[in-house]
Amino acid sequence: MSFRTNRLACLTTHALDSDRTTQINCGGQKLKVTGILQASVLTLIFFAAFSVLTASAVSEEGSSPPSIQQAKTPPEREAFRQELLRELEEYAKTHSTWNVPRTDGQFLRILVESCKIKRALEIGSSNGYSTIWIGMGLERSGGKLITLEIDHGRAEMCKENVKKAGLEKVITGMEGDALKVIPTLKGPFDFVFIDAWKPDYKKHLDTVMPRMPVGVVIAAHNAIRMASSMRDYLDAVKTDPRFDTVFLSTTMRDGFAITYKKAEQSSPGRQR
Ligand SMILES: C[S@@+](CC[C@H](N)C(=O)[O-])C[C@H]1O[C@@H](n2cnc3c(N)ncnc32)[C@H](O)[C@@H]1O
Repeated sequence: MSFRTNRLACLTTHALDSDRTTQINCGGQKLKVTGILQASVLTLIFFAAFSVLTASAVSEEGSSPPSIQQAKTPPEREAFRQELLRELEEYAKTHSTWNVPRTDGQFLRILVESCKIKRALEIGSSNGYSTIWIGMGLERSGGKLITLEIDHGRAEMCKENVKKAGLEKVITGMEGDALKVIPTLKGPFDFVFIDAWKPDYKKHLDTVMPRMPVGVVIAAHNAIRMASSMRDYLDAVKTDPRFDTVFLSTTMRDGFAITYKKAEQSSPGRQR
């Protein structure tokens, strides 16, 4: 693009330096332009050509718009959010944000969108990386997310990133200890993502239980690599007859315990 633009600039400068009359072929008519008029016409041609070339270069490269407000179409919004997620991945390389791997984020998005989740809860937002993935799925399913973070700095970053992603109508970020905040929430939730301190997972399960109807899906992160730190949680979701639980990995290194609540009562008669 810069090569073509430079050539145009050279041609324009060359023409402006010349005292000679210039002929312009306009729809078969030959127009003669001289002096000031020649300078104005050539300058206009240069700026028009520059605008067209700039616009075509942006669309050829598929660049994201500078802000979510300037993204007018769904593909532009997607491009902007992917750029933001890439920035957060770079940030995580030098900061302790403990974000899920990209493929786990993609999986969370697919899960909430395909299950048509309406009311989701995330325990452990950090700076909002997984939050944004879940929020993108919920935007398509017409759902809402409440995300909880105990650390003030990370809760603030989460709110900021949610705003940057243009998902503030879908996601509500709340600062506080989930074990204290959840009893104040209305519920019910049809999707719960647990990604907080591992030994607390069972306490989180017990706290959310009154707000989890039959049909809820619970995704517990790090359930393979850090299984020993959440043994009581895994024992509960594997042995309680109200639940079906499977382990799932998108990375082959770690993954989720995915739990489905299939019955309200712990009656063995309802067990599949
Ligand atoms: C593994 S990080 C979450 C990463 C995030 N889900 C992501 O993928 O972007 C765990 C977060 O849980 C938060 N946390 C731990 N215990 C918590 C609690 N009881 N209530 C709320 N947040 C908690 C921590 O401060 C930390 O930021």
